[in-house]
Amino acid sequence: MIRRYVFGNMIETEAVLNKPEKSEGPLPYLEVREEKKSFLYRMDPEERIYGLGENVRGINKRGWIYESKCSDDPEHREDKHALYGAHNFFVADGKEPFGVFIDYPGILTFDVGYEKSDELRITASDWNLEVYIITGENVKDIVKQFRRLIGRSYIPPLWAFGYGQSRWGYKSADDVREVARKHRELGIGLDSIYLDIDYMERFKDFTVNEETFPDFPDFVKEMEEEHIHLVPIIDAGVKKEEGYPVYEEGMEKGYFCKKEDGTEFVAAVWPGKALFPDMLNEEARQWFGNWYRFLLDQGIEGFWNDMNEPSIFYTEDRLSDVMEKIKEYQGKNLDLNTFFEFQGLVTGLSNNTNDYKYFYHERDGEKIRHDRVHNLFGFAMTRAAGEAFERLEPEKRILMFSRSSYIGMHRYGGIWQGDNMSWWSHLLLNIRMMPSLNMCGFLYTGADLGGFGADTTEDLLLRWLAFGIFTPLMRNHSAMGTRRQEVYQFDRIEGFRHIIGLRYRLIPYLYSEYMKAAVRDEMMFRPLAFDYPEDRYALDVEDQLLLGEEIMLAPVYEQNARGRYVYLPEAMKMVRFCQDGIQKEEILEAGHHYVEIPLTDVVFFIRPGRLVPLAGPAVCTKEIDFEDLTYISYVEKGEALYEYYRDDGYEKDYDNPDHITVIRVQK
Ligand code: GLC
Repeated sequence: MIRRYVFGNMIETEAVLNKPEKSEGPLPYLEVREEKKSFLYRMDPEERIYGLGENVRGINKRGWIYESKCSDDPEHREDKHALYGAHNFFVADGKEPFGVFIDYPGILTFDVGYEKSDELRITASDWNLEVYIITGENVKDIVKQFRRLIGRSYIPPLWAFGYGQSRWGYKSADDVREVARKHRELGIGLDSIYLDIDYMERFKDFTVNEETFPDFPDFVKEMEEEHIHLVPIIDAGVKKEEGYPVYEEGMEKGYFCKKEDGTEFVAAVWPGKALFPDMLNEEARQWFGNWYRFLLDQGIEGFWNDMNEPSIFYTEDRLSDVMEKIKEYQGKNLDLNTFFEFQGLVTGLSNNTNDYKYFYHERDGEKIRHDRVHNLFGFAMTRAAGEAFERLEPEKRILMFSRSSYIGMHRYGGIWQGDNMSWWSHLLLNIRMMPSLNMCGFLYTGADLGGFGADTTEDLLLRWLAFGIFTPLMRNHSAMGTRRQEVYQFDRIEGFRHIIGLRYRLIPYLYSEYMKAAVRDEMMFRPLAFDYPEDRYALDVEDQLLLGEEIMLAPVYEQNARGRYVYLPEAMKMVRFCQDGIQKEEILEAGHHYVEIPLTDVVFFIRPGRLVPLAGPAVCTKEIDFEDLTYISYVEKGEALYEYYRDDGYEKDYDNPDHITVIRVQK
C-alpha cells in the first residue's frame, strides 16, 4: 500500500508518473518536525536501512549521514556524504518493514543513526515536498511497489550488454582503430568504444574535430563493420563562443540559465566559459535534445551524458571576486589561519554550493532558483535526450547513460557510478551499490572497471572484470594521465580473454534477467538479506550478491587474496570457470566456506532447483547464438525451470508474452 503526504507546495519533479490521491492525517512511522524541516523515525537496534541509491558505504546504510546533493566529487571516500545522484528512497527493515520516498528536488540529508544511533532523521532545505510511505509484506514487495510508482526502467539495445572500452585520452580515429584492432586480433570480446571529450572540436557539444576524426560518418561505419559501436560523450555546458551554432541558437532563443538580472549565467567547464541550457524548461529541453540528431545522423546509436550535476570549475563572478580578494594576501606572512583561508578561496572556486543560488530556471513562466531544484539537472538533461530519441528514432533503442541523476531519470537512461579510483575499496563499493541502485530503478549501471582515477594494476583489473562481467554496463574506463588499462596492456592476456569471453557466454542469461527485472519492476541484484530474511548470518553479508533467482556472487575484492570466505545460506552448486577452459562444479553445504579463487578463475554459485543458460563463445553480441545454449543447473532430483526472456534485443514490444519461454532441466 502506498500513501502520499503533501507538505507545502512542491516543485514538480515528475519522478512519480501516476500519483495516488493524497492522504490526510498523521504519517505512519515518521514524526513530523516542521519547525526543523525534518522527519524523525526511531529505529530498533536490529533494524536495517537499505537504499539511497548511489552513495558511499555499505548495503545497510545505518551509522552514517548521507546527503542528496548531486556532486561532482571524484574522491569517493568513506567520509563523503554525497555522490553524483540524489536517490531519496529507502526501506526500513525492522519488525514492520516500510519504504519511504521523499520527492524533493532540493538538498536533503538522511542522518541514519549518526547523531543518535537509534534515530533516523531526514532534513530538507525547505518545506515543500511530498512523502510516500509504502508498506508491504517484505522488502522485495515494497521495492516492487515503489518501482511501479516511478515507472519502468530504461531498456538499452542488446549491443550495450557487450564489453566496452573507454579512456579519456583517445585523441584520434587512429587511436580508436588501434583499440578495435588489438581486441579483434587477440580475440578479446568488444562491442563498443567510448569517445571522450577529445572527439569534439575544442570540447564543444555536437561538433566533431575534423582533423583528428575526419570523415566521421565513414569512420562510424568502418567500426560498425567490425561490430563496434562508437559512443560519444555529451557535456552539460555549452561553450560560449561567437559563431558556434549551439551557443548562437541558445542565446537567440533565450534557452540558457540566467542570473537574477536576466543575463546569462556563465560557468567554466572543459571548454572554458560555458552556459547551461535550461533543461527544466520544456522548450529548451526539446531544443537541446534535437541537437543529438547531429550525431544520430552520422550513425551514432549511443551516448553518455556527463558533467550534469552540473559540474562547475568556477563561475565568472566568483572568479573575479576571488582574484580581487587574493590581492589582500600579497606580501602577508600566511600563518595557520590565513594560509588555509587563502587556500580555501581557490579550492572553493569549484562546485561551490553557493553558486547554485545565482542562477535560475524558467518553467511554465515561473522563475526557479537553481538551488531549489539542484538535483533535477542531470535528470532533465538525460530526459532531453530520451525524449528526443523517442521523437527522432521512435523505432530504435538508443544507448544512454548519465553521470548525475534523480529518481525518474531511470526511465530515460542508466548511470555509471562516476569517477571512482583504481582502489580495491572501490571494487567493493561497486558491488555494494548495485542493489541500492536497483531499488531506485537504475538497472543499467556499472562502475568504471579497473578504476577511473589513479593507476590500476593487473590483478585489480582482473578481479574487477571478474565482477564486472555480471553488471549490465560493463565498461573499462580510465582518466587521462593514469596508467593505460586496456586489457592488452598487461601480461595475462589469456586470463582477460577468458574472463571477458565468459561475459559473452553469459549474455543470454544476463539480458534475460535484465529484461525481466525491467518489465516486472524487480531488482536484478539483491543483498542476501532480501531473500533469506530469517537467516541471521545472511542479514549481515555485505560482499556477496544475488543475481536474479539463480546466481549468488562472491567476488574477490582484496589485493593478493587467493580466495575468500563465502557464506551460503543454503546448499549451492559452486561453478568454476578456469582459464584453460575447464569448468568445474561442486556442491557446497550451507554455512561458511573458504573458497580458493585464483586470479583468472571466475566462480559463482547456483541456487537449488535453478539453472543458468550459457551460449557458445563469441567476441561481439552479434555473434552470440541465443538459441544454441547449454545449461548449468543445480538439481539433484526433479526439475529445474528457467523463464528465458528472448527478443531480438532491438525491438520495443517488451511486453509480448512470446518473449518468454520456459527451459526445463530434469534429473
Ligand atoms: C568526467 C567524467 C569522466 C570523463 C571526464 C572527461 O570526469 O566523469 O568519465 O572521462 O570527465 O570527459
